[in-house]
Amino acid sequence: MKALAAELASAELEALIAPHGGVLRELYLPAAEAEALKRRSASLPQWTLNQRQLCDLELLLNGGFSPLQGFLGRADYDGVVNEMRLADGTLWPIPIVLDVDEAFAAKLGENAQISLNDTQGTPLAVLTVEDVYFPDRIEEARRVFGTTDRTHPGVAELLDRTGSVYLGGRVQGIQPPPHYDFTSLRLSPRELRDWFHQHGWHRIVAFQTRNPMHRAHRELTLRAAEKVGAKLLIQPSVGRTKPGDVDHYTRVRCYRALLEHYPPGLATLALLPLAMRMGGPREALWHAIIRKNYGASHFIVGRDHAGPGKDAEGKPFYDPYAAQQLLAKHQDELGIEVVPFPAMVYAANRDTYVPQTEVRPDDEVRDISGTELRRRLHNGEPIPEWFTFPDVVKILRERHPANARQGLALFFTGLSGSGKSTLAQAVVSRLLETSSRPVTVLDGDEVRRHLSKGLGFSREDRDANITRIGFVASEVVRHGGIVICAPIAPYANARAEARQLVEAHGRFVEIHVSTPLEICEARDRKGLYAAARAGKIKGFTGIDDPYETPVTPELRIDTSQVSVSEAADKVLEWLQTQALA
Ligand code: PPS
Repeated sequence: MKALAAELASAELEALIAPHGGVLRELYLPAAEAEALKRRSASLPQWTLNQRQLCDLELLLNGGFSPLQGFLGRADYDGVVNEMRLADGTLWPIPIVLDVDEAFAAKLGENAQISLNDTQGTPLAVLTVEDVYFPDRIEEARRVFGTTDRTHPGVAELLDRTGSVYLGGRVQGIQPPPHYDFTSLRLSPRELRDWFHQHGWHRIVAFQTRNPMHRAHRELTLRAAEKVGAKLLIQPSVGRTKPGDVDHYTRVRCYRALLEHYPPGLATLALLPLAMRMGGPREALWHAIIRKNYGASHFIVGRDHAGPGKDAEGKPFYDPYAAQQLLAKHQDELGIEVVPFPAMVYAANRDTYVPQTEVRPDDEVRDISGTELRRRLHNGEPIPEWFTFPDVVKILRERHPANARQGLALFFTGLSGSGKSTLAQAVVSRLLETSSRPVTVLDGDEVRRHLSKGLGFSREDRDANITRIGFVASEVVRHGGIVICAPIAPYANARAEARQLVEAHGRFVEIHVSTPLEICEARDRKGLYAAARAGKIKGFTGIDDPYETPVTPELRIDTSQVSVSEAADKVLEWLQTQALA
């Protein structure tokens, strides 16, 4: 009797699509073995996973990346980069690698094991290193992303923030990365498959997103589900998405609200801890494989799936339909059925949403882009009901207070003696004259006395200094305050990183204090230029150390041309035109 029940249950389970490669590869050890490995892991070399590696590990361990059983070794890596295939021929489009620095790799003996830890030091898994190799990351960028343009966030990460050595090998799981948010929505492939089974769902169309969803998305997903006669799985990526995206806490609240607007019993929501690469067509293929592992039989691929937008020359990185074409080409091998869908637009005259391809010549088409939505939120302007649901707008408004109440960082950069600190002080006074918002000042010299005490003026130390300023500024902005920073910040990359940290929470305004070197040197308030010319100070910015001029700052002010008071007026006026002050 029991055997028959088990057989029936497994027959029903089989009704769900098979995982990629045939078997769901969960890499967690049984409890007792995991406990023993955890104890042993303390004596192994320790590696702290960054956010991408942590997301990748979670999906390796829970089977989301089946059939992978660890981080890719050289042969698999070469196959994936060049042919989108593992060494055994299985389709796999994105390299899943553990990148480390050379110093760490040099410490590893033959067949070393390393403990993979989260940032709290909790051991999550052990990697048995079978392969240590130096990838050609430029070639990887070219092949995987089709470009080496750093405007592409995946490329920037690969070329600027990825270790130069890759470690490949099997992974044994000790415990899942801990999550304390939305735990009931964080289902593993097995848990989601079980849920489908319990609810009698066999045909399931999955929808991937990294943005809040509005009426157009609801229409699109409803139509897709109807078209293929399936239930709907909304499975947003919540691991890491494109810099500047709405944070996942806010998004999940929006998705929950939206779910109430579907017919009962049609749709469910589950979160995917995926670190997106924004790799367009290849990424779309990868998303489909992952959804197949989670038990979805169909996968919606819209316009410009996982596209990172435009390149440095303003051209889109990928053709908007390249993802649909690539998936169609591999349809048979993929197994999961691709449901290509054009963008949905609102036809005001018919008060209905229609696929872009079905717009009639006399239709009055309306759309609100992401940029326009942000503008309306910032300015507190109305958002029409045809576009989204009032409960979704309410959540977004809480998260994006209108500009004048948003956190703000004014980042002054320029040579020593350019007048940054004086101007910053004047701006603080002007702000405090008219507003009771708290203002924090992170001046160059001041920061070096406390926050960056001990740092010197090598490139590395200067970058560390700016990262620290960026971090503190982002915290101030996150809490809705105003922060005024006034370091030299000679390197464009470090300034960009500070911008990125701050823009996750509010506005970043770069003000280049462009007073020419001759003037700064003539002023020589601290006597440092004279000392630098005399060779008593080495590596002085502007003398024998570079200053990379900001290309597109929000404002540029030369204090040899205007008085401090006029310069402060200019800053305040600009802030007012942007409704920031
Ligand atoms: S950086 O590059 O942004 O980290 O520099 P910052 O922290 O703003 O520099 C603070 C002050 O340090 C003095 N100083 C130097 N500046 C440039 N190069 C070298 N080698 C150097 N050594 C000391 C300089 O006076 C900076 O202050 P400001 O207010 O800009 O004059």
